Amino acid sequence: MAGQFERSTAVGVVSGTAGRMVELQGWVARKHAVGGLVFIILRDGTGYVQVSAKKGGESDAAFGKALEATKESAVTIRGEVKDDARAPGGKEVMARELVIDSKAEPWPITKTAAKSRSFLFDKRHLSIRGPKAIAAMKIRAEVISAAFDYFRGRGFFLISGPTFVQAAVEGGSTLFPVDYFGKKAYLSQSAQFYEEAALASLQKVWIFQPAFRAEKSKTAKHLTEFWMIEAEQAFADQKRNMELLEGLLHAMATAVLQRRQEELKTLGRTLKEFSLPIPRITYDEARNIASRKGFQFEWGDDIGAEAERAVSMSQESPFFITDYPLSARSFYHMTYPDRKDVTLSADLIAPEGFGELATGGQRIHDQAELMARIRSQDLPAEAFSWYLELRKFGMPPHSGFGIGVERTARWLAGLKHIRSASLFPRTVSRLSP
Ligand code: 4AD
Ligand code: MG
Repeated sequence: MAGQFERSTAVGVVSGTAGRMVELQGWVARKHAVGGLVFIILRDGTGYVQVSAKKGGESDAAFGKALEATKESAVTIRGEVKDDARAPGGKEVMARELVIDSKAEPWPITKTAAKSRSFLFDKRHLSIRGPKAIAAMKIRAEVISAAFDYFRGRGFFLISGPTFVQAAVEGGSTLFPVDYFGKKAYLSQSAQFYEEAALASLQKVWIFQPAFRAEKSKTAKHLTEFWMIEAEQAFADQKRNMELLEGLLHAMATAVLQRRQEELKTLGRTLKEFSLPIPRITYDEARNIASRKGFQFEWGDDIGAEAERAVSMSQESPFFITDYPLSARSFYHMTYPDRKDVTLSADLIAPEGFGELATGGQRIHDQAELMARIRSQDLPAEAFSWYLELRKFGMPPHSGFGIGVERTARWLAGLKHIRSASLFPRTVSRLSP
């Protein structure tokens, strides 16, 4: 009997024509029975479709099984596609056969239980089947796919770096220590230094891998493990670096807008288009904006969470904050030739209060200058010996950036908390499932 049905997927059916005989495989997302009729909303990776089974007649055999199939059971359904204006998508499948491949126990995520966020995240392995979690993951996947297309189209090579490292890229306070056969190692905060090493081999590189931060910040934008996309270009100044970064964000947003409207709708997100180039404001201007909104800070300090939020709220679309003071940046940042306390660096900031998505800048490429910087900041030169040595063997001016995947997905999808942009989030207070 199976032979007369075409193998298909739920969405394939919805868009297909009536009268086709199809086989669907998926999960029972919802079910309700009225009299001699059972309706199942079947879910697969591509979407949802309504399946019906009626007592008596052609779908009688399927009817009994449909009654038996519990929420979240995995099922195979064979049946006929019918036009039905009342069904979501305008099509439904009248089941002729229904096989329960794996029957589900009573679903633990009841309406009452679902009111507790911590319960939902304790049951994350199950709650990720919900429509909002699915929409967020599809948007995150779109962001990543867009990066692959973007970099390939611009001649960047994808490289990988180690996860076990010995030195800090972004300062020692957020390193996760691990015991490495009796030696102290750390989990990588950023692959930037490895990218810089690869420049002389490949000239333009990018990387996509997890980064780890032992920050005890319990905010809506901090994870302890997240995915970072980083890019580095030889012979490129900070201007070109910013153009590369804003182009990437634009490509990501465009991909989501073009391909994930359904998901944005599910999340209740109105995502606005933006055009290139995006606005650039300086650190000094950002400081003034924050100050006018009641968030003062000293020149030279990093822009704190509340001040950043205030500046972010003042804008309607993404923008750069440029020209950070050296005292607020990592040791490797290059400064203006005539302003030794201001770096050639920028943060990419999302509007609506979402805040920082990326940080980038031009690196010091001169060996003596880098050594002097390491000394002046009392950093252990031994830890950076190979990074310094790169400067002895053909290191041109170069720049790069790192953009957080979950932060970007969070902004695009309009998620309240960054953990919803991660399949299995790791935060200060969460290490499972
Ligand atoms: O601003 P960060 O610390 O910059 C760097 O690591 C540079 N070495 C990157 C480079 O130039 N190659 O991190 C880059 C981005 C941030 O802008 C943010 O989006 C994300 O990584 N990020 C986090 N995302 C989630 N949780 C955290 N705790 C994050 N810390 C940084
Ligand atoms: Mg940063």
